[in-house]
Amino acid sequence: MLYKLFKKKDVFALLSESGGSNDGLRRSLSMPHLVTLGIGAIVGTGIFVITGQAAAEYAGPALTISFLISGIGCVLAGLCYAEFAAMIPVSGSVYSYSYATIGELLAWFIGWDLILEYLFACSTVAVGWSGYAQSLLQGWGLELPHSIAGSTFEHTAAGWTLTGSIINFPAVFIVGVVATFLLGGIRQSALVNNIIVVIKVSVILLFVGFGLAHIDVGNYTPYIPENTGEFGHYGWSGVLRGAAAVFFAFLGFDAISTTAQETRNPQRDMPRGILLSLLICTALYVAVTAVLTGITSYTELHVDAPIAYAIDSLGGQLAWLSPLIKLGAIAGLSSVILVMMLGQSRIYYAISKDGLLPRLFSRVNLRRGVPQNATIFAGVATGLAAGLFPLHVLNELVCIGTLMAFAIVCLSILVLRKTQPALKRPFRVPLVPFIPLLGAAICIIQMVALPWNTWLRLIGWTALGLIIYFTYGIRHSKLHKKS
Ligand code: ALA
Repeated sequence: MLYKLFKKKDVFALLSESGGSNDGLRRSLSMPHLVTLGIGAIVGTGIFVITGQAAAEYAGPALTISFLISGIGCVLAGLCYAEFAAMIPVSGSVYSYSYATIGELLAWFIGWDLILEYLFACSTVAVGWSGYAQSLLQGWGLELPHSIAGSTFEHTAAGWTLTGSIINFPAVFIVGVVATFLLGGIRQSALVNNIIVVIKVSVILLFVGFGLAHIDVGNYTPYIPENTGEFGHYGWSGVLRGAAAVFFAFLGFDAISTTAQETRNPQRDMPRGILLSLLICTALYVAVTAVLTGITSYTELHVDAPIAYAIDSLGGQLAWLSPLIKLGAIAGLSSVILVMMLGQSRIYYAISKDGLLPRLFSRVNLRRGVPQNATIFAGVATGLAAGLFPLHVLNELVCIGTLMAFAIVCLSILVLRKTQPALKRPFRVPLVPFIPLLGAAICIIQMVALPWNTWLRLIGWTALGLIIYFTYGIRHSKLHKKS
């Protein structure tokens, strides 16, 4: 029994599985697609919403330093992802890597954790999209009835309550639209994503370009506001807490690796795609934060749409930019949902191919080259979570799940270098073991800093996963059947 749980997939078998017919998936992505998929998944709520709140509450203008710290942590994990994605270019990302390095039970555990990351990140952003869309509609004099404008449930210190709303309709709507695009095929999805990325990056560059002239350097003093006596409230501890708060803004680069099996030359393009998109986003984030906190005092930025607020605070000088920013944010959030849902469906697909989830999830629509059932299921699960639950409950789970996945990827690099030293590595993480260890340490420290109820929810999610594994997965595992 114990032997079964830790049985590993042969890396060479894994590689040959993705060759040949490629299981009906199409290899149509190249490096520019991967970079735009990365930017599509990364730039969203983090920059359009969280920046203002993190500057106002934790770091002040020094949030630029927080973004750099968080970005460096993600680049370390990104380097490890790049080595794996080039070495084992299959669709399951960390799930598949760990199946070959640490065995089936842990691979399932990680796959289940990735489902948590992509499912809840996607629903969090869909709820954020609903908020932005409703504020734009309100600007045009249109107000949705309460019964379809918010989540069904709310969670407070007193427990779960009903809000009186039936469902968050705009959140379900955007999830439905995105799922429909995904069902059209990876090429179509990539095209839609490219268009959205051009819109959101243009809007961000317009903000930085026109905002520069309106910076009041007085707003940068003090650059690191004095700590109030409470840990994390300004000062250097505030800069660190700011880094943890903006970690969400970098999520998504890992979703690129789930498309390795749909990439023409994954060995060469995966590392470049992952690292380049991370670097571009870090540069954009630092520039936006510098302009944002230069135009407006950080003390005023605790608002839902800080970038639009900063423009409005200029008293009409850049009034034309304000609706563009809102549209850019709405478009930007849509592409995050698109790439995260794409990643989610590819994880179901990969797990099901191994027999740990029902086979129907790995059926591919050969005409479109899409794992159809997995995509529909991802849409339904995301729509339900986004329609029923409030943003803060969904968001809490995302960071802890992702940090755990990143830490495991970093540590697995070390395991595989020892157990499979001869494996061809088109991209190698430099300075091993220093970089993987530092990457894992940064992730684990951030996990430890999260509140205990987030840990409880993670434990609950893991328990559910183990029940599914021991009642279904272990009996249907292809690896066990083969042996
Ligand atoms: N990085 C993505 C965002 O900020 C999840 O919305």
